[in-house]
Amino acid sequence: MNVASAYAPGRVELLGNHTDYNGGVVLAAAIDRGLTVAGSARDDDRIVLTSESLQRRLEVSLRELQPQVEERWANYGLGVVRELIDAGFPVRGFEAAVRGELPPGAGLSSSAAFEVATALFLLKLHGWTLDPLALAQLCQRAENEFVGVRSGLLDQATSVFGKADHVVYLDCRSLEVRTIPFPPGLALLIADPGKKHALVHGEYNARRRECFAAAEALGVPGLRDVSAVEFGKVGDRLEPLLRRRAAHIIGENDRVWRAADALAAGDAATFGSLMNASHESSRTNFENSTPELDRLVGIARTLPGALGSRLTGGGFGGATVTLAHAADAASIATELQAQFARATGETAKVFVCEIADGAA
Ligand code: GLA
Repeated sequence: MNVASAYAPGRVELLGNHTDYNGGVVLAAAIDRGLTVAGSARDDDRIVLTSESLQRRLEVSLRELQPQVEERWANYGLGVVRELIDAGFPVRGFEAAVRGELPPGAGLSSSAAFEVATALFLLKLHGWTLDPLALAQLCQRAENEFVGVRSGLLDQATSVFGKADHVVYLDCRSLEVRTIPFPPGLALLIADPGKKHALVHGEYNARRRECFAAAEALGVPGLRDVSAVEFGKVGDRLEPLLRRRAAHIIGENDRVWRAADALAAGDAATFGSLMNASHESSRTNFENSTPELDRLVGIARTLPGALGSRLTGGGFGGATVTLAHAADAASIATELQAQFARATGETAKVFVCEIADGAA
């Protein structure tokens, strides 16, 4: 094929914060906003990438695939090219444009959408296939190795395996992926205060190291191997900082399992209170919230029809997600925006998102 186009959605993490690289479990959903990568093959070995929203263009040779310092935005796409080549796919020169409505830094994983859409675009362009799990893992490696963020599989797996009106349950150890129907009559609202944190990658990787140090101190391969009940008995062996980090991960795994049962039973109130508990743990144990996110969550919880609210994704910036009765979603969006503006003088983007199909 000489031309191709591929779309991949962003995702919203519902519960299971920072559990993925700890071998834990996550609940997330693909959303109705994403990125498209479209373009054509070239006869030479050049890669030309353009970003419509950023108004940037990058041209490099396939032979000189290095992480870009000036044009960092392109690393998600170039990293996928690198991984495809390393996996034995002889990628040819191509040009492609990325476009869409997923703002970077909003916590909705524009990076995974970029990676997954690039991978699918290149597979189509060359007439190759890859099974969905391998596709998600290849994109995760691109992020880990080329971009340099040691993230887990949550974002890429959700972008690939998402299903309309379903929540994705992902077990990052067994790699089991399941979809659970999202109960009717509920809605998800995203609130993005538009604040990006300059040190996100450093903070993220630091949390990862702390989690691994906590697992090592507890004598287990990963924090996944400690249940909430066991942690109640052995948590005191950890120094305070590692104890708080571990408490967050172990608590999140526990909340995911409880929430999956609640979802299956159509118990939205329990799901919402687990989201509230998750945010509280982010704020106090994992310290990956920000004053803006705390403010948004605090306001959302007081609004009629809201069932629970928390930060979504890596934290240190990004957005919040609120579970609400669908009938109240529009008024919650208006009120949340207005009260946040009154309290801070700043504007948050608040919108209702639909749970959409994944890329595969
Ligand atoms: C980011 C990472 C994911 C995951 C979340 C936190 O979105 O990319 O792998 O770790 O943070 O749950």
